[in-house]
Amino acid sequence: MQHLLSIESLSDKQISQLVTAAIEARRVRHSADAPQPLRGQSWALVFSKSSTRTRVSFEVGIRELGGRAMFFSGNDLQLGRGEPIRDTARVFGRMLDGIIIRTFAQSDLEEFAQWGGIPVINALTDDEHPCQVLADLQTIVEHLGDWRGQRVVFMGDAVCNMARSWMWASARLGFELVLCGPPEFTPDPTDLEHLPGHSVTVETDPLKAVAGATVLYTDVWVSMGREAESQERLATLQPYQINSRLVAAADPGAIVMHCLPAYREQEITAEVLERFANVIFDQSENRLHAQKAVLSTIAASRRAGMGGAN
Ligand code: CP
Ligand code: NVA
Repeated sequence: MQHLLSIESLSDKQISQLVTAAIEARRVRHSADAPQPLRGQSWALVFSKSSTRTRVSFEVGIRELGGRAMFFSGNDLQLGRGEPIRDTARVFGRMLDGIIIRTFAQSDLEEFAQWGGIPVINALTDDEHPCQVLADLQTIVEHLGDWRGQRVVFMGDAVCNMARSWMWASARLGFELVLCGPPEFTPDPTDLEHLPGHSVTVETDPLKAVAGATVLYTDVWVSMGREAESQERLATLQPYQINSRLVAAADPGAIVMHCLPAYREQEITAEVLERFANVIFDQSENRLHAQKAVLSTIAASRRAGMGGAN
């Protein structure tokens, strides 16, 4: 694996291996012989959007793997004054060992990967949030044993970056995924016909969607960059709030997941969030382990000089 640009660009085998490695990273975290494959390396974090979990988990993870992390907000770099990505990427490529990027357009990330000559990791774009879904899959394995056989319902803005990464995880791994939201926040079902696995469906009725669900997943209703649409989104998405009524209509052993940050009484009630806080904060912690797995896998590929096409 040369880069991590999306879940779409991973195979089922690569996803499984990363989750297995993440579980192992969690197990060995505090042992004296925990591996340090980034020893002597310098990685840049370039973030054009806010972050708590992603920034902290990458900075801590890189340090624990023996490397050094440098954080730049979009405006810290000449990039913010119009220097082209292709020039920034080539400068980075001369001095750094990898770049972790949180930005708007997926194409900007791909341009960094094309020009930098060093690994690029997607720390969230408008299209995908692959690191979060890897941590979420790890959390499902730790709480439910396996992703196989689960019925995952993504509730709310079912066309956002998180929903898209879940869509690709389902297409690759074959578990059932229901994308549930109002018509303007769900994909056109005909667009899903081309997905491998035929495991993703769309449902606009929240009670129908959660019947038999083993995982209820939600995300903010107003993603970063969509603030101008806040009022309309909060009104339209209200029927898709994860509350005690929806949880009661799901499988009795169902878990509730949230990538955070959470807006209580919008996409999730405070009561449900606190009831499932052990799962939700495991998701946060697993960002650290999953990203250490990604960094270690990329470092091993580079050492072996056999980076793949991802
Ligand atoms: N879930 C997530 O990516 O959180 P941050 O925006 O705080 O990084
Ligand atoms: N969909 C959200 C995810 C935050 C982690 C956003 O893009 O803001």
